[in-house]
Amino acid sequence: MCGIVGYIGPKKVFPLLIGGLEKLEYRGYDSAGVARIDKGRFTIFRSEGKLSNLKLKLSTAGESAESCGCPDGVQIGIGHTRWATHGRPSEVNAHPHIAGRICVVHNGIVENYLALRERLSQHGAKFSSDTDTEIAAHLINYHYDRGISLIDAVRAATAELEGSYALVVISSDEPDRIVVAKNATPVVAGTTENEAFIASDIPAILEHTRTMHILEDGEIAEIKAGEIHIYRGEDKVEREPVTITWDPITAEKGGYRHFMLKEIYEQPQVITDTFRGRIDHGKAKIHLEDLKLTDGELRSLKRICIVGCGTAWHAALVMKFYIERFARINVEVDYSSEFRYREPVIDQDTLFIAVSQSGETADTLSSLQLASDLGARTLAICNVVGSSISRKAESIVYTHAGPEISVASTKAFVTQVVAGYLLALKLASARETLSSEELSERIEDLVLLPNHVTRVLECDKQVAKIARKYGRKEDFLFLGRGILYPIALEGALKLKEISYVHAEGYPSGEMKHGPIALISEETPVVMVFGQDGVNLEKATSNMMEVESRGGQIIAVTDRGSNSLSDLAWEVVSAGEVSRYMLPVVLTVPLQLFAYHVAVYRGTDVDQPRNLAKSVTVE
Ligand code: AGP
Repeated sequence: MCGIVGYIGPKKVFPLLIGGLEKLEYRGYDSAGVARIDKGRFTIFRSEGKLSNLKLKLSTAGESAESCGCPDGVQIGIGHTRWATHGRPSEVNAHPHIAGRICVVHNGIVENYLALRERLSQHGAKFSSDTDTEIAAHLINYHYDRGISLIDAVRAATAELEGSYALVVISSDEPDRIVVAKNATPVVAGTTENEAFIASDIPAILEHTRTMHILEDGEIAEIKAGEIHIYRGEDKVEREPVTITWDPITAEKGGYRHFMLKEIYEQPQVITDTFRGRIDHGKAKIHLEDLKLTDGELRSLKRICIVGCGTAWHAALVMKFYIERFARINVEVDYSSEFRYREPVIDQDTLFIAVSQSGETADTLSSLQLASDLGARTLAICNVVGSSISRKAESIVYTHAGPEISVASTKAFVTQVVAGYLLALKLASARETLSSEELSERIEDLVLLPNHVTRVLECDKQVAKIARKYGRKEDFLFLGRGILYPIALEGALKLKEISYVHAEGYPSGEMKHGPIALISEETPVVMVFGQDGVNLEKATSNMMEVESRGGQIIAVTDRGSNSLSDLAWEVVSAGEVSRYMLPVVLTVPLQLFAYHVAVYRGTDVDQPRNLAKSVTVE
């Protein structure tokens, strides 16, 4: 989820690259860099922190917009803003990365970087950063040194790379071209008569051209000033460019009306990003790269304590189910704000887990400090590399949700659930509480999840219609049981925070102990349930209790059925899916429901009143 720009043409290249990176900075980044080719050599500037730091460095070096020091004629350069995945935010880890005659910027994750690093070291490669990108640069350089062209070197290197990438590569020996390779990470090239622009996101180059060539997975492009040649392997791909008609603001949102909607639609991709490289299907193994506990230590844990706030707390509740079910170890879940003031019983046999998208939430950070002071082993499930929580925890499982702009958390939540699921399977494997067959089946469930989420997104129009029908109601009750109780809580929270409608999440079985008094035709009830085992039976009796009191039921479930349609006013069915994946799959219609109610009521969806994206004060 980093930002990439590239340029080849007659204009001064650094100001142009910086202008493109500025268009991407709204996503929030941790370091940036630019490089160009000057008379057969690379000129490179990199800097930690915001883009303003890089701009200062450039101007100190006399590289202002007016005097960039480039030779006349065609200028060529690449730039990058980084959202760290491998390696902390720092200048050495900032892109571009140079290896010999090759200079590279990269978005994505190279999964087999450790094996490649080892092999390249044996060939004499020296690495100066902790990034997977530098390994890709060395791999391309290794092939280039065999005397082949730049595009062939990129072809050979990408044949060996596993994972996702948008690679943008220049060579000091071929200063008239940029080679781009794409797999599972977006990249586009825009052209004019005598220039070409490359970007990870259309907004970065939209002010220069509206003619875009959108690369597809497995394609490699050789780009010169005013020209683009796309290949799949050796075969040329003939494809007309598209003309972008969006205004720049819509373009930042990828054509979606709000960041929240964009982020909801990114979920299949970020789920894949979160488990990619961490599962070994064949061997039924889980690999968590920053987990500092040995299998022996995982086996000797007596207890797990998880904390978080808001949506992160809901993800923690789902994790409790996974860990207790798969790894048979006692898990307690607390609000961070409660944990830190209640003198918790914690010792060295406790694994303390802090869940946080931002990694900066004050209560979660203080809880982590407290647990660590009390001697617990600590682990963070966190989205922002280099954040305070990720720095403080002993172990980390990063979620790879990318920057989440909308205040209402959506894609971060599903990746937290996926990260918790991976951790639960890792614990189960170390503690031998699941057979290798069952471990394999659970991994298979995860592999199928992105497709299920893509499929459930098709309910968007149906949910929008339901949202308009019920959008003027002032109270909602969300009910769920077991692993779906946290999903009822999450559905209610989403609705509250962006549409300002009162909503309560409750365990279904608790309804008759109080909330049933609220049921009337003015309080729609959103029932979240799966239909395997006793769940349908139990949900049916809850629905009968609601229906007999005049309540209107919106059922969000895996399968539709006639008996269900008799009881529920609306049925949103996500399709059959493993029960362990229901928390993710059934969350999606609830996110869309909250979104469409908010749009219908005309609230500020991405920046709801009174809320901040990360709460860094108590
Ligand atoms: C969710 O939609 C909220 N915006 C909020 O509850 C959030 O999840 C909470 O503040 C925790 O933030 P964190 O994950 O950055 O720690």
